[in-house]
Amino acid sequence: AHASAPGPSGAPVLVASNRGPVSYSVRPDGTLDARRGGGGLVSGLSAVGPEGGALWVCAALGEGDREAVRRGVLEAGVRMLDIDAEVHADAYHGIANSVLWFVHHMLYQTPLEPSFDREFRRQWAAYEQYNRAFAEALAEGAAPGAAVLVQDYHLALVPGLLRELRDDLRIGHFSHTPWAPPDYFRMLPDDIAAQLLHGMLGADRLAFLTRRWADAFTACCDAVVGGTGATRIGVHGLGADAEFLRERAHREDVAGRTAALRAQIGGADRRTIVRVDRTELSKNIVRGLRAYELLLAERPEWRERVVHLAFAYPSRQDLAVYRAYTAEVARVADEVNSRFGTPGWTPVILHVEDDFARSLAAYRLADVALVNPVRDGMNLVAKEVPVVSDEGCALVLSREAGAYEELGEDALAVNPYDVVATADALHAALTMPGPERAERTARLAAAASALPPQRWFLDQLRELRGS
Ligand code: F6P
Repeated sequence: AHASAPGPSGAPVLVASNRGPVSYSVRPDGTLDARRGGGGLVSGLSAVGPEGGALWVCAALGEGDREAVRRGVLEAGVRMLDIDAEVHADAYHGIANSVLWFVHHMLYQTPLEPSFDREFRRQWAAYEQYNRAFAEALAEGAAPGAAVLVQDYHLALVPGLLRELRDDLRIGHFSHTPWAPPDYFRMLPDDIAAQLLHGMLGADRLAFLTRRWADAFTACCDAVVGGTGATRIGVHGLGADAEFLRERAHREDVAGRTAALRAQIGGADRRTIVRVDRTELSKNIVRGLRAYELLLAERPEWRERVVHLAFAYPSRQDLAVYRAYTAEVARVADEVNSRFGTPGWTPVILHVEDDFARSLAAYRLADVALVNPVRDGMNLVAKEVPVVSDEGCALVLSREAGAYEELGEDALAVNPYDVVATADALHAALTMPGPERAERTARLAAAASALPPQRWFLDQLRELRGS
């Protein structure tokens, strides 16, 4: 378990995030199925240990979660907030995913820039209400002087709201996303931009994945609210959990998936280009497919000799723009296959069901990994692949991913909009001599695992308590 029950006087360490460490679904027989999530925060918090008395405050995200709250079956150390479903939808889909995610990733483009109308204002009120519910739960659950680590753009107002309720707490906030420079950030209505920044600045300490995002935040504060005041700003670049990944990647289920993938790839000498993403607009999957198509078109020597394993796991399907993007990915993959495929060769193998064991199998056998987001807070795939790769894997990496700051030297860097340069980088990656590839992979793996989640978490806690 990642945490034990907080004592009667409250928890000394609290984490707050929209998505919690566990999610529930109701089985046909009426019983509840609990599924534990993975990710940096879950393993990070495990460092506090059972004796740490940590409390994780999260939102109930579906009917299963709500039912678990009603039945009172939540495990110790987790508090799920049963926020009104419409309020949550407005806050999560309407504001967090459709506005704040788009601003931080600079995804709005002419002529699809937003109009901040009355509907937006109505949703913003829900976002405030949702943030207030978190602040109240944290205020209620925290021991005197406790450290509270608030996560992400969903909960940007929580630090300020919590400060008003409990002045004794050490409040930290961590952004897992990029941060946009002022010229873009100021697309938000002036009062909303100021409220958002003031909300975050209610923290003792704010932290970001890279210096670049931290500097952009500071620049926004300078431009919008006249500076960051007394709030400290830090950088903690979350790394891969190498020990866990290597052990996990050598279990039997992964070997089974490897065999299945090899059968799909066909031809023992075929090279593989692997990508693994949520089907997310910022991940730039379509341009990745176009770059691969260009490689096959302009360098026919690769036909029949390479396969692109593209794992694109649908996410946020409640939003029309994500549904459309998911369909576009499938359409373009089909197009490449009809254009170049032969009876014995499928150029793109697209998988859409999320399967961690299969992702690990692909990481192990990849010759090339393609990580080309238009903008990404960090991107852990870029860090996980070199850690579990069997024989070395060349990494084609967008310079707009946070991971580029740490891995840039040994990756093949690309401008994610430049499809021609991406096709060239894929060719360079496929032709990289084996020894060079192995050396680069070893250096990438070392850099990628320098800050494992537990250390990432404990560093933040130490810095926060020192404030
Ligand atoms: O990148 C920031 C982040 O919070 C990730 O941790 C997570 O993958 C995603 O955004 C949120 O996804 P979801 O909306 O599915 O919770």
